[in-house]
Amino acid sequence: MRRKVIAGNWKMNMTPSEAVKLANDLKGNVANDNVDVIFCVPAIDIVPVVEAVKGTNIKIGAENMYIEEKGAYTGEISANMLVDAGVSHVIIGHSERRQLFNESDEFLNKKIKKAIEHKLIPIVCCGETLEQREEGITLTFIKDQIKAAYEGISSEDALNTIIAYEPIWAIGTGKVATTEQAEEVCASIRKNLEEIYDAKTAEEIRILYGGSVNASNAAELFAQNNIDGGLVGGASLKPEFANIVNY
Ligand code: PGA
Repeated sequence: MRRKVIAGNWKMNMTPSEAVKLANDLKGNVANDNVDVIFCVPAIDIVPVVEAVKGTNIKIGAENMYIEEKGAYTGEISANMLVDAGVSHVIIGHSERRQLFNESDEFLNKKIKKAIEHKLIPIVCCGETLEQREEGITLTFIKDQIKAAYEGISSEDALNTIIAYEPIWAIGTGKVATTEQAEEVCASIRKNLEEIYDAKTAEEIRILYGGSVNASNAAELFAQNNIDGGLVGGASLKPEFANIVNY
């Protein structure tokens, strides 16, 4: 039985003081021991938010990291820094990073490997554009993204990763994928994992849905066979997030 994961993606929202306030407001209401609750927060908010949620079930994730250990990479943040600050998860390959910052599959594969090396759990994002969906190439496109992301990663390491399927057309648009659409792709991703690894590994890896998840659609989405929770953007900044966690 896969344990559900409800991860908030705060994106570029919340100054450090706002972040602490939000964490304090939410923490008492997201105390659900049956699910993994993760706040993925801007880098500058990590230290104060880790402090704010001490003693709760909430885990803290980063939204990005760099592929190198340390050195002359002005402006970047290493896996080591995240771990030392108390981070356990890191979002890798969000479509906003792929599209706005030109992050390629190869580059993201390096990030995933670096995260694993440091025992950070990567939340590996994939998802198609509206054009790709309309062309009917969603499943093959995502299969290629998954294959590229997991290139050279052992099944043992893959077990310590989480996948988030986020159709780009559903992100921040209020246009949620239907449960059938979301389940179809998540089931297909599990098949892809079975082809790359084996049935047992594929069965254990958690696959989340993301894209306009809110308190009214969460329960139906998370009830699907292959959807093991959600990566939540907009609604993770509101009290509503507690209703999603306690769906
Ligand atoms: P959204 O964002 O819930 O605001 O659509 C999801 C995400 O980008 O992770």
